[in-house]
Amino acid sequence: MESLSGFVRGILRNLLTGEGQIVLERRVPSLQERFQEIEELGLYLHIPFCRQICPYCPYNKELYHSEVAAEYVDALRGEIDLYSSLVGRKPVTSFYIGGGTPTAMLHSGLPEILDQVFSAFNMQCEIHLESHPNDLSAENLDSIASLGVEHLSIGVEALQDRHLRMLGRPYTARQAKEAVGRATEAGFKCVNADMIFALPGQTAREVEQTGRELVELGVDQVAAYPLFTFPYTQMGRQADGESHGNSGVLRRRRMLGILEEIFYAEGYERTSVWAFTRPEVPRYCSVTVPLYLGLGASAGSYLKDVFYLNTFNVSEYIRAVQNGRLPVALSLGLSERMQMAGWLYWRIYETRFQKSDFMARFGCDLDRVFGKFLRPLSWAGLLQDDGAEVVLSDEGTYWLHVLEDLFSIDHVGKLWGTSQQEPWPERVVL
Ligand SMILES: C[S@@+](CC[C@H](N)C(=O)[O-])C[C@H]1O[C@@H](n2cnc3c(N)ncnc32)[C@H](O)[C@@H]1O
Ligand code: SF4
Repeated sequence: MESLSGFVRGILRNLLTGEGQIVLERRVPSLQERFQEIEELGLYLHIPFCRQICPYCPYNKELYHSEVAAEYVDALRGEIDLYSSLVGRKPVTSFYIGGGTPTAMLHSGLPEILDQVFSAFNMQCEIHLESHPNDLSAENLDSIASLGVEHLSIGVEALQDRHLRMLGRPYTARQAKEAVGRATEAGFKCVNADMIFALPGQTAREVEQTGRELVELGVDQVAAYPLFTFPYTQMGRQADGESHGNSGVLRRRRMLGILEEIFYAEGYERTSVWAFTRPEVPRYCSVTVPLYLGLGASAGSYLKDVFYLNTFNVSEYIRAVQNGRLPVALSLGLSERMQMAGWLYWRIYETRFQKSDFMARFGCDLDRVFGKFLRPLSWAGLLQDDGAEVVLSDEGTYWLHVLEDLFSIDHVGKLWGTSQQEPWPERVVL
């Protein structure tokens, strides 16, 4: 089965990007000129600490220790300094703080980091922050708001105690609901709740209950992910030999259908493959800004014709910055065709896009490059194309899930799996 999906992956990759293989190599790209060519950028900042480690989690994180966290803050400030002259006064138009668990550093570290970011860069945007339900006491919510955060995301995951236990989450459904209720009352522009569905043994009724309760609690957006099992996580190692435990696409489709029904009936709109948002609300930041700079261990940066990734190892990250070096571990030069394919992937991920944006970005007609792929998808009802705008249908979203399985799990598994084992890998072949 694996060789068949590898074969399909190879064909699709070749058709879309023109590349037989994608190889990331240990090389620091030259950045001066690339930054000069950029007009604006997004910023991503990674906090790799959590109070406990969840068995299913693929992200780069380690247990929080105050001494390491303090050194990490110093290193982040150093990395910001290394970039400040490169970025200059170019506007930063989105700012996302993710993890790990950024709220693990709410009172020690986060305020200092934000001060540094706002003094080093020309911030023309609001702050988006990921949070853990256990960090959302009324006092902490006040602190979060006073840092200037306007968009708050909460890792709720499930609202049944048995599933929370299975996921190793350290709270009950009642505590999670109380935390979400406090957050939605706290005056943020957007409160997003993450939930995971298609959990082992989860019933359709439980998925429905979670969706409905989140709506009743007043969240502005729900990001609903099927449970992905990455081979290098604790859950993945336990599932080894089985098909990595990723639950059947049909079961997922049914469950996603239940959620679509609930959210559409309540007036939410689909704003990405995973997210449903109330229409009047600015949607919780996406990771799909066209060009972004990533700061912190494991953060990725995408600057037009290059993608690069910082080392995942926190000690090595700190050491590199202390030595005045950028902590870049791997990079990948992007041919124009790869940039175009990447652009298309992320726009489809957002479920709608204007063809004129492609023209503005690449100076050529989208249909000329990708028409032969998009037309059959349109005939099959997976997307609507009125000539100017392309909109993914719910059916199309389902198939994108299948593609996600085919590409993202494999690529993320290889890239992040290797990077978590080796601080400075020589190369990673996708
Ligand atoms: C960085 S975490 C959120 C913030 C915080 N660390 C927490 O756990 O509450 C990002 C989100 O990714 C999702 N996620 C993590 N691992 C996942 C997996 N294996 N499958 C599907 N979704 C996953 C969860 O919904 C999680 O809330
Ligand atoms: S899911 Fe969140 S809290 Fe759990 S290990 Fe991952 S980042 Fe940390």
